[in-house]
Amino acid sequence: MPGAIYAEGLVKTFGDVKALDGVDLDVPEGTVLGLLGPNGAGKTTAVRCLTTLLTPDRGRAVVAGIDVLKHPNEVRRSIGLSGQFAAVDEYLTGRENLQMVGQLYQMKAKEAKARAGELLDRFNLADAADRPSKTYSGGMRRRLDLAAALVVSPPVMFMDEPTTGLDPRNRQQLWEVIQELVSGGTTLLLTTQYLEEADHLAHDICVVDHGRVIARGTSDQLKAQTGGERVEVVVHEREDIAPAEEILRGLGKGEVAVEAHTRKLTVPVSGGAKLLAEVIRELDTRGVEIDDIGLRRPTLDDVFISLTGHVAEAPSNGENGGNGASGADAEAKEDAK
Ligand SMILES: Nc1ncnc2c1ncn2[C@@H]1O[C@H](COP(=O)(O)OP(=O)(O)OP(=O)(O)O)[C@@H](O)[C@H]1O
Ligand SMILES: [Mg+2]
Repeated sequence: MPGAIYAEGLVKTFGDVKALDGVDLDVPEGTVLGLLGPNGAGKTTAVRCLTTLLTPDRGRAVVAGIDVLKHPNEVRRSIGLSGQFAAVDEYLTGRENLQMVGQLYQMKAKEAKARAGELLDRFNLADAADRPSKTYSGGMRRRLDLAAALVVSPPVMFMDEPTTGLDPRNRQQLWEVIQELVSGGTTLLLTTQYLEEADHLAHDICVVDHGRVIARGTSDQLKAQTGGERVEVVVHEREDIAPAEEILRGLGKGEVAVEAHTRKLTVPVSGGAKLLAEVIRELDTRGVEIDDIGLRRPTLDDVFISLTGHVAEAPSNGENGGNGASGADAEAKEDAK
């Protein structure tokens, strides 16, 4: 049985750009899928196709058991979406924005008001609740946008870079909200540039690049694929590099990578802590002075680099939220023609 979010062979082309080139997804109910990929990989396009804002050229998608292409209106009623760019009404206050969403979803005025108050507290917006949201900082807008996506608790949620531009405390709080939602049975597809976030929240991870899924699995599975443990040594002086390299070549089980300007040497190993102790003994015997040494397991960052050939881009600041919203609207309208 397909999961709460299911896609098969999604293709979307913009001119010469194949934003999606045959994407398959299957997210079991009550789980979180983390969609990772470099800028321009197709993450937002995938989210837009799944949330009815864009019509794919080819492929099929079923969300909350409803065919996205055949019954977009019904899908819209079953999902919540928070976009990469906050889509709040600048001239309304935070509170009014949230109440308006509640009313769009046919909540009673009193109920919408209570829900808005609750969410404003939850997202640390209570003090600014009655100011027009155009006076909000980038991080505040983003929080308001997330709160808006949570006014009704839909069974399926999509969040496109939910914590970009949030400070660590607000990010942590959002993670808690997300975990609560999911433990309550919500299914979530989340895109993020923070690999730590995917590691923390996602049950499964899909890495996309050039519109294709290039890897999928749990965070542990992806890390295991990338390779095992490594010993990393930073020697005190340049002269120490050569003897250290020799030692590592002898004890490691692969090529020694040397970064001369930082005096850092890295080698794949097996045997963990025991081997680390041996490396330290050998270095000591040879009189090699070290500044730092450690056993490193692959992180999701390593996975990302080895798969896509580059580091995850530094996320753009939330301050420029808002800009893109009009673009998304225009696109959605154009697509609806
Ligand atoms: N409306 C559009 N018109 C033309 N090209 C588009 C449009 N939307 C997306 N693209 C192109 O499709 C590709 C995928 O874009 P998309 O926004 O889905 O990437 P993304 O993975 O979300 O990137 P980011 O990490 O920067 O948010 C890019 O090459 C982008 O330029
Ligand atoms: Mg995007």
